Amino acid sequence: MDALELTSPAALRTFVQGIRAAAPYIYAFRDNTFVIALGGEVVDSEKFIGIIHDLNLLHSLGFRLIVVHGMRPQIEAILAQQNIESYFADGIRITDADTMDCVLEAAGQVRSRIEALLSLGLANSPMAGARNRVSSGNYLTARPLGVIDGQNMQFTGAVRRIDREAIQQRLDDGDIVLISPLGYSPTGEIFNLSMEEVAAKVAVRLEALKLVFLSDDDGLRKDKKRLDTISTDEAEALLKKSKGIPELLRLYMRQAVYASHGGVPRVHFLSSRRDGALLLELFTRQGVGTMLSHRSLETVRAATIDDIGSILALIEPLEADGILVRRSREQLEAEIERFIVMEYDNLIIGCAALVPFPEEGAGEMAALAVHPEFQREGYGEMLLHYIEAWARKIGLKELFALTTRTGHWFIERGFRQAPVSQLPMKKQALYNYRRRSLVYWKKL
Ligand code: ARG
Repeated sequence: MDALELTSPAALRTFVQGIRAAAPYIYAFRDNTFVIALGGEVVDSEKFIGIIHDLNLLHSLGFRLIVVHGMRPQIEAILAQQNIESYFADGIRITDADTMDCVLEAAGQVRSRIEALLSLGLANSPMAGARNRVSSGNYLTARPLGVIDGQNMQFTGAVRRIDREAIQQRLDDGDIVLISPLGYSPTGEIFNLSMEEVAAKVAVRLEALKLVFLSDDDGLRKDKKRLDTISTDEAEALLKKSKGIPELLRLYMRQAVYASHGGVPRVHFLSSRRDGALLLELFTRQGVGTMLSHRSLETVRAATIDDIGSILALIEPLEADGILVRRSREQLEAEIERFIVMEYDNLIIGCAALVPFPEEGAGEMAALAVHPEFQREGYGEMLLHYIEAWARKIGLKELFALTTRTGHWFIERGFRQAPVSQLPMKKQALYNYRRRSLVYWKKL
């Protein structure tokens, strides 16, 4: 590994900030179970050693790691060497006896390589002496897949049972558990399984906090841009469309959705080509891959007294800049039921208030603020929609807002400027002629 060059003050600052940002995640994640699924192509790539280092690092931090590996390219290579033809039904390999021999050979190669690398300490580092025990075993019972599309799948199987206690025991002992996509039947037969299915079923059965797929795919993309998050519903809708998703990704996604329904809170898709992808995904808020979760990450709800600190933190910088009118903590406490807050991953990232003027059938949207790191992502707009819906619900016919600088934002969202004299009397009485805010109205 390259030595860290921390020569400039900026680099030092970034380093410190990075570690501080990671701390809450380390605290929240350690002692939890993580299933890391490695595509077979990842194991052969030159980036693999970096991934092994990161896995060792996570293990040393107290993460309970289960590594599931794939081996499709390795199987292909051995089949080609031996001139054995492959047959597929519905995209799934039919495993006859000859093919099964190749599968076992591939599994042996891949698992030895992973075991060897995982036992490698970090040379010339304080981790050089760290011992990472890897254990594997007959944790999976399989059943034959049977007949698909009129074809007997022979030794291609599906997971029947997972020996959860045995895996847990190994994790309790501090081992990294390595699982190959092979399963055994009670009668002693061996079955060739899909690593995606194994990873997802193990994650559900072991109540993993996360399932992470590392492949050399670039993650999920939409219009060439990385899809940052996707909800289970969206993924299912995507899977229903027959076109546009590569076969392999479809397989990953189907299993990710399964895991999500099975209670795994977050499933991540990462590209192995990016150095440190695992660490960047786990220890930063933005991540570098695609994260699938049940609920969408942002929620809007009514504010409570407990949110006052967060709301103040959001609006104070805007008050200092003269964009919002100053509100004291006491005022905020008195008005708290007029506020809504937007949460992102348990962090309050936005707020807004609705001040009703029932006599005029109008409401004021006030104190709209979005955390600087989350701006230009449509959160302000979402808050506006909530305020509009709320105003409609309590029978208001019009919404207005006062602003000194962001008039265009309101105009783009259907507001029109109007004179101060149009404001409700009570509001006019409070109007600050020094601030000279502009007034914008919208019919609901
Ligand atoms: N580090 C956090 C986690 O692991 C957030 C990751 C966000 N990732 C993303 N692709 N949006 O839960």
